[in-house]
Amino acid sequence: MRDRRGTQAVSPVLLGVDDSGWVPVTAGESGATVFRSADATRYAKCVPAADAADLKAERDRVVWLSGQGVPGPRVLDWQSGDAGACLVTGAVSGIPADQVPAGELRVAWDHIADAVRGLHGTPVPLCPFRRGLDAMVAVARDVVARDAVNAEFLPVDQQHTPTTELLERLTRQVPQRREQEVADMVVCHGDLCLPNIILDPQTLEVSGFIDLGRLGRADRYADLALLLANARETWTGEEQARAADTAFAERYGIDLDHDRLRFYLHLDPLTWG
Ligand SMILES: Nc1ncnc2c1ncn2[C@@H]1O[C@H](COP(=O)(O)OP(=O)(O)O)[C@@H](O)[C@H]1O
Ligand SMILES: [Mg+2]
Repeated sequence: MRDRRGTQAVSPVLLGVDDSGWVPVTAGESGATVFRSADATRYAKCVPAADAADLKAERDRVVWLSGQGVPGPRVLDWQSGDAGACLVTGAVSGIPADQVPAGELRVAWDHIADAVRGLHGTPVPLCPFRRGLDAMVAVARDVVARDAVNAEFLPVDQQHTPTTELLERLTRQVPQRREQEVADMVVCHGDLCLPNIILDPQTLEVSGFIDLGRLGRADRYADLALLLANARETWTGEEQARAADTAFAERYGIDLDHDRLRFYLHLDPLTWG
């Protein structure tokens, strides 16, 4: 979840979770409030009642993925009522991949490519969740119609273009992108940015994927576009970024289509808000 809507105060204890000395975590980017237990073994994500359905959807995805051999959190508790909802998960131990410097990310990069390949290799027919293009476009239409796009999420050169125009440009590509998706559907994370990939600080291997609320069947490019773009915030220049894209593509095993990457990169910011 990444929208920054203002939310009323919710806390795990008020929502019926045991008192573990919950400390708010500020790293999250969504309207949800995330807490860590005092002993750092658990995280609690709390939302007001209006967002409970989204959090329940996230809970179901965490439960499903933990049965698929893909590293990630486990669900430890779930509370839901008039005051809101709270999802308690076991901590995936390690450091979020956006918090390591470029040199370390470069070492982790092959492990990340392997882990993403593993996630995308999960048998699609076993995945009950859809996160396909038509669903994404429908969300984008709704967000744009409400004029709720967060300009900060847009590429700088798009921040002064009306979002209706941005959506219109993307819509023209939908028939082609839909065909590609049908031919190459995988289980996607759905918000595959570095903060949602936890690394073992010693080995720099992937300890797990977190923040699974958008997991579902989709075009692998939806994930690859976000990951490669987000890693550019860590790489120290365009040359290093291009080398990293090439290294990732080789390790993951793909001949990157840059137009397809750009399509998903530009669609994503229209789906938050
Ligand atoms: N199970 C978990 N294991 C490790 N870290 C977690 C876990 N859950 C949350 N976090 C930490 O809290 C932050 C916010 O949680 P996240 O689920 O990503 O919320 P948001 O939807 O707000 O991005 C994460 O970026 C991560 O640092
Ligand atoms: Mg997150």
